[in-house]
Amino acid sequence: MRKTKGIILAGGAGTRMYPMTQLYSKQLISVYDKPMIYYPMSTLILSGIKEVLIISNKETIPYYEKLFKDGSHLGMKIEYAVQDAPKGIAEAFIIGEEFIGDDQVCLILGDNIFYGYLNFVRDAINNNNGATVFGYYVKDPKRYGVVEFDDNGKAISIEEKPEKPRSKYAVPGLYVFDSTSPERSRNITPSARGEVEITDLIRSYLIEDDLKVARIGRGIAWLDSGTPESLLDASTFIASIEQRQGLKIGCIEEAAYQMRFIDEEGMKKIIYDLPESYYRDYLKGLLKI
Ligand code: TTP
Repeated sequence: MRKTKGIILAGGAGTRMYPMTQLYSKQLISVYDKPMIYYPMSTLILSGIKEVLIISNKETIPYYEKLFKDGSHLGMKIEYAVQDAPKGIAEAFIIGEEFIGDDQVCLILGDNIFYGYLNFVRDAINNNNGATVFGYYVKDPKRYGVVEFDDNGKAISIEEKPEKPRSKYAVPGLYVFDSTSPERSRNITPSARGEVEITDLIRSYLIEDDLKVARIGRGIAWLDSGTPESLLDASTFIASIEQRQGLKIGCIEEAAYQMRFIDEEGMKKIIYDLPESYYRDYLKGLLKI
């Protein structure tokens, strides 16, 4: 597995979630039975990523610190950084420049939920050269970055929230970039809406023929939970599967245990530190204690 660091971008304006976002950023709101940010965090863990930087506004960072601490109980190293204002997704690489150093980095947006066999992320991490992003078939691509492919399946264009999308393939908020991403992001002129656009960063790799776009199949559920409707859909989706299987989605402790970031002793220590709760009972059940 190639050494790869993770960034979770978990701030934003959150205008679509107002008034919830008066107090803190939306990634703390619950999706069914746990905070939204648990889902992208577990996606990174299940991709084998141990070092994670969480970026958010200054009001919310203390809550994330309370949730994840320094990550050592999970066998991880978790750091925090402030984004003063939501000035674009690619600003994450400018803020995270020192953290990234000479490593490649996997960025996930704090409101993106992936469910299914996550091999596509591990493959992307292992085979990345410049940048790797994904294409996911959706009914209404207008709300997203949209990627167009030629007849050979090669990506030929990427556009942010186009009026007339050239394909049905949206680019989810999960990306793998090499260590040149901070420098490239610094050289991007902010768009008309004042943001350092992730699509501009992706395009800089595309024009150098250094971009891979991997299509994610129908077996993967990609949900975003950034609007009241999509939050409700995501909660219902997670609830249906969890209730049917009796297994949790986005349980960071379980993911860390499964990935052997922690051993049984480490898991027991986590359990003993938790208050009495269904969540604690669930973790105990995993160890059959
Ligand atoms: P967006 O969907 O671009 O915006 P938003 O959801 O914060 O706000 P609004 O409801 O006002 O449209 O953001 C996608 C994700 O990235 C979301 O989880 C917030 C996060 N984000 C940041 O943390 N900082 C940023 O500068 C931007 C643009 C987004």
